[in-house]
Amino acid sequence: MNENNPNTAKDVVDGSPPLRLAVLISGSGSNLQALIDASQQADSPYEIAVVISNRADAFGLERAQRAGIATQVLSHRDFDSRTAYDTALAELLRAAAPGLIALAGFMRILTPGFVEQWQGRLLNIHPSLLPSYRGLHTHQRVLEAGDPVHGATVHFVTAELDGGPAIVQARVPVLADDEPDQLAARVLEQEHRIYPLAVRWFAEDRLVLSSDGRTQLDGEPLDSPVIIDTAR
Ligand code: GRF
Repeated sequence: MNENNPNTAKDVVDGSPPLRLAVLISGSGSNLQALIDASQQADSPYEIAVVISNRADAFGLERAQRAGIATQVLSHRDFDSRTAYDTALAELLRAAAPGLIALAGFMRILTPGFVEQWQGRLLNIHPSLLPSYRGLHTHQRVLEAGDPVHGATVHFVTAELDGGPAIVQARVPVLADDEPDQLAARVLEQEHRIYPLAVRWFAEDRLVLSSDGRTQLDGEPLDSPVIIDTAR
């Protein structure tokens, strides 16, 4: 959405301004790109207010700049503790006044204090079918285990690493001769579908994290995530 044009698609549809999204990255930013592309569609209910990276060389910063989106670099090297970093990050975010924060390959563990401040407004995408394979090197681990199906999950972030309630999952097949990179590319393609979808649901007020810690979609508790299946 164009900041010079306050009459965004969401204004036209329901009179409310588009949701302001902040995206946190550390690297390539292909998920950021998917979010940018979706935000540029005429009926997008959100706009990207800021992209923040903890690494100055993250390619995602270029993607944001190309799209005319404000960027900030907050290097973890300039802080001597996780708490000090997260305090500075929270300050930057408050200045951007986001309605939602999307972690998109942001390679930092956030402190419980930070997560609490934004609980219910903090999403992450993880390259596995959570709760399986939390943490790193998920594609390699799936191949080593011989699993027939793999995928990605968008979830609300809680203080438990990769442990917050799942919203939507994409499932992909694992093929006999897959190498980790091939499998990662197959998963990533689906990540680019499900992240904009979850952000859209949130921006349309269809998705909430309720006070009992459960995800609700369209007013109904989600006992398991919505599944987008390409594994069949
Ligand atoms: C993705 O696989 C995402 O699931 C994980 O980090 C990777 C980021 O890729 N959290 P990109 O920077 O969005 O291309």
